[in-house]
Amino acid sequence: MTETHEEYDARMLTLLQMIWGEGFLSPGGPQAVREIAGGFDLGGKRILDIGCGLGGLDQVLLTLGAGHVTGIDVSPYIVEGGQERMRRSGLNKKIDIQLVTPGPLPFADASFDIVFGKDAWLHIPDKAAHFAEIFRVLKPGGRIAAGDWMKSPGPYSRDMEYFFEMEGLTYHLVTLAQYGLLLHEAGFVGIRLADITDRYRAEAHEELARMQGELAGMMLAELGPEGNAHFIEDWRSLTVVLDKGELRPAQIWATRPAT
Ligand SMILES: C[S@@+](CC[C@H](N)C(=O)[O-])C[C@H]1O[C@@H](n2cnc3c(N)ncnc32)[C@H](O)[C@@H]1O
Repeated sequence: MTETHEEYDARMLTLLQMIWGEGFLSPGGPQAVREIAGGFDLGGKRILDIGCGLGGLDQVLLTLGAGHVTGIDVSPYIVEGGQERMRRSGLNKKIDIQLVTPGPLPFADASFDIVFGKDAWLHIPDKAAHFAEIFRVLKPGGRIAAGDWMKSPGPYSRDMEYFFEMEGLTYHLVTLAQYGLLLHEAGFVGIRLADITDRYRAEAHEELARMQGELAGMMLAELGPEGNAHFIEDWRSLTVVLDKGELRPAQIWATRPAT
């Protein structure tokens, strides 16, 4: 992979946490983690969080009973921030945040009970290789529990490309049907896919209203007038592709067969 791994700059991290809460770089906060992983018995389980960001979700996984969480991410800046958060909260024995390079996962076969991910795999271009690696590091009977962003069929529209430009991030999106097929081809069974576009569409409009309302003073103070204007326009462009149904957030579950 050739794209930069420091796409999320300090300004972006400030903005995302202002909207979604300290340690959270994707929508939904603790409730999203409960929805995605709460249906499983996490008691004492070893979890791998791929694209863990600052680790806020990993703390929720611990409160849900996880035995140990290994969080991996490709951004040195974000990983430093996540490790510092864990040291400060005294959780660094239970949540181990590691910097990795994109590609094969640096773990032995059958190392984890659950592989978790939240709105991070959208940056990974080779999803077949990614799912093959997840299959390898999961124990037989182990599960994927993830949130991710999908797209509608067909090429990206100009609105979608404009949204990506505003984000300043590299996205590699497929449709939910393609995602399910790729999981199937990697050997997963019990694949469940939930499209949550309608819900996030409403939430994104509320987020934009908060940015222009209750968060406006903080945004101006933290990001300056140019940063404030940029992120308002970024969020407006997000609501456009959600309103069109072109950007389609989803939740995903799948199991590595027990034998
Ligand atoms: C939107 S953030 C979500 C972070 C976290 N999951 C959360 O919800 O707070 C996406 C994260 O994916 C990371 N990322 C991008 N490409 C990755 C890759 N190939 N492997 C692991 N992490 C990656 C980014 O550095 C970033 O921290």
